[in-house]
Amino acid sequence: MVEKTSSLNTANSLRLYLEAKKLIPSGVSSLKRIAGFESHPIYMKRGEGSRIEDVDGNRFIDLLMGYGALINGHRNPRIMEALKKQLEYMTLCGAPTEIEIDVAKKMRSMVPSADMVLFCNSGTEATMHAIRIARAVTGKDRIVKFEGAYHGQHDYVLFSVEPMETGLEVSPFRIPYQPGIPEEIARTVVVSPWNNPQVLEKILKRYRNDIAAIIAEPIMGNSGVIMPEGDYLKQLKELAQKYEALLIFDEVLTGFRVAKGGAQEYFGVTADLVTYAKALGGGVPIAAVAGRRDIMEMVGPGRIGFGGTYNANPLSLAGASANLEVLAENEYSAYSRLHSLGGKLMKGLAEEAEAAGVNVSVQGVGPLFQIFFTDLPKVRNYREALTADDDAYAAFHQSMLEQGVYLHPDPFERITISTAHTQEDIDQILSVASRAFREVKAVVGA
Ligand SMILES: Cc1ncc(COP(=O)(O)O)c(C=O)c1O
Repeated sequence: MVEKTSSLNTANSLRLYLEAKKLIPSGVSSLKRIAGFESHPIYMKRGEGSRIEDVDGNRFIDLLMGYGALINGHRNPRIMEALKKQLEYMTLCGAPTEIEIDVAKKMRSMVPSADMVLFCNSGTEATMHAIRIARAVTGKDRIVKFEGAYHGQHDYVLFSVEPMETGLEVSPFRIPYQPGIPEEIARTVVVSPWNNPQVLEKILKRYRNDIAAIIAEPIMGNSGVIMPEGDYLKQLKELAQKYEALLIFDEVLTGFRVAKGGAQEYFGVTADLVTYAKALGGGVPIAAVAGRRDIMEMVGPGRIGFGGTYNANPLSLAGASANLEVLAENEYSAYSRLHSLGGKLMKGLAEEAEAAGVNVSVQGVGPLFQIFFTDLPKVRNYREALTADDDAYAAFHQSMLEQGVYLHPDPFERITISTAHTQEDIDQILSVASRAFREVKAVVGA
């Protein structure tokens, strides 16, 4: 949070925010951009590699990285070049282009189970389409989603995203995320706790003939970062098959980030349908639904619809194509680097916290993780995430920001690094984290 007492000069950000609020409700077009800021968000101006600069000239190492989209950093030269080149041809046409085939081929070569691919523009659209496809091919209406998981802004998935009340673990409440979602839609969603196969099976039994799909973030990344325990993803797949539902992995966060083939490759479990966005484009707006050929081929005239003016627009495809090319270089060495640097950062943060006497669980994988301020050895589901200490996180965030490291102030967001981050960045982050954890200790006490 940026408080009046902050040592950071953010006068221009404050001025812009006050101006924005007169024109744009709450001042922003995506409410997460103000979540957790006490006074005003910080307005950014420029990005280069792992670094960003705000409108007051403050410089930061970026650990938010466009909410995980900027897998190759800000303004990656290869992506910039591809975009400039495409600008010489066209930005949008409304007819198919060859580059669509190029990106589909690249995705296929990286991702297990991506027999076929359809392009759209955001993670929200991708999960909306995947759910519709699942409903159409199974002829069923209901979906199972997990408590604390986020799949975008459409009504079908906006239940129990960040509920304050959760109910019993055997029968979690189904809480709409915001007003305006029809009660009829609520009927189509069943909420299950994460990492609890027994409750999931109970739900599947109860709605035996009416679950079209189980939709899961294979690594939960919107309640901090929560890993699947043991064989949990495999169990999801087996349960989906047993109860004749499709398994949808929402890899909007994990796709092209945790491995070249995303969480499917990382855990060795494939889903029937998979959604991508964020790191697919490396900073341009693009998303995709991919999956099994027999399912994907049900999309077509007179069958399941799919459309959009900006779907597969040449500009985004050009950016995505260059982005995937950069990731593929030197036999995808980007991924070992992301894991190695991110792993060092995770380990270093845990050590600094311990040295300061602050209890934390740093959890996730190198390219995607979060720090929970908790006495628990590990956070295993949303309910446990809710018990983490928000004041401690706020103090940590404030100190890191003042020392030049940009994190999201909302503890349910996460840390993502990029191929542009360096060992020097990691060293710098860890050296300032040591003070940040000591400041947390002073705030939260023994
Ligand atoms: C797992 C997941 N799914 C879907 C979405 C929605 O994507 P978008 O913001 O591109 O609509 C997000 C966004 O954060 C996400 O993290």
